[in-house]
Amino acid sequence: MKISLLADCPDFAPVVAQWHFAEWGHLYPGGTVDGWLDHIRTRMNADRIPMTVVAEDDRGEPVGTAALTEHDMTTHPELSPWLGGVYVAPLARGRGVASTLIRHLMERAADFGVRDLYLYTRGATDLYRKFDWRPLSRELYMGREVTVMTSTPSNRPFERPGSAGRSTPFR
Ligand SMILES: CC(C)(COP(=O)(O)OP(=O)(O)OC[C@H]1O[C@@H](n2cnc3c(N)ncnc32)[C@H](O)[C@@H]1OP(=O)(O)O)[C@@H](O)C(=O)NCCC(=O)NCCS
Repeated sequence: MKISLLADCPDFAPVVAQWHFAEWGHLYPGGTVDGWLDHIRTRMNADRIPMTVVAEDDRGEPVGTAALTEHDMTTHPELSPWLGGVYVAPLARGRGVASTLIRHLMERAADFGVRDLYLYTRGATDLYRKFDWRPLSRELYMGREVTVMTSTPSNRPFERPGSAGRSTPFR
């Protein structure tokens, strides 16, 4: 698996927009795939946040995505930056793609000097706990109960059995 900046493979932006629209579009009634694509194009920096990355399989097909953004919850403008948009294509799930994306962006955040990173999730708290994220609060957001979590990103390898250190060398 290879993790690339969306800035370096902009042809993948439409598939990322389709994934996000299919997964979260219902939360924003009236939205369109094109609208989501426009939004994703604002998160395509190569050297600063907001930044999006894409996981490619061995054939170069995009299988997942995640992003670092300045803001995510409109109710928490005081918290920044955020890990968000974590999505893995259904057929590629259960093979560690999300884990690789999360680790990769935590390493990038650490390289940017981020001390506190945030995310919110409806049901995937256990996934993030594996990477030392801790719950901050449970809240109602856009009609759904979510958990806000925080972590202190590190660019040191996670010391876990089977960990191979930094998963994807930066260019
Ligand atoms: C959640 C999602 C990103 C997981 O992707 P994935 O590539 O299958 O995840 P991984 O294979 O890296 O899973 C890593 C671990 O987290 C666990 N995990 C995966 N999804 C989980 C979830 N929704 N809740 C709790 N744990 C989860 C796995 O069981 C695995 O545990 P293990 O290491 O003990 O085997 C994927 O199912 C998805 O895109 N779902 C729809 C969008 C979504 O919910 N995104 C998260 C928003 S916060």
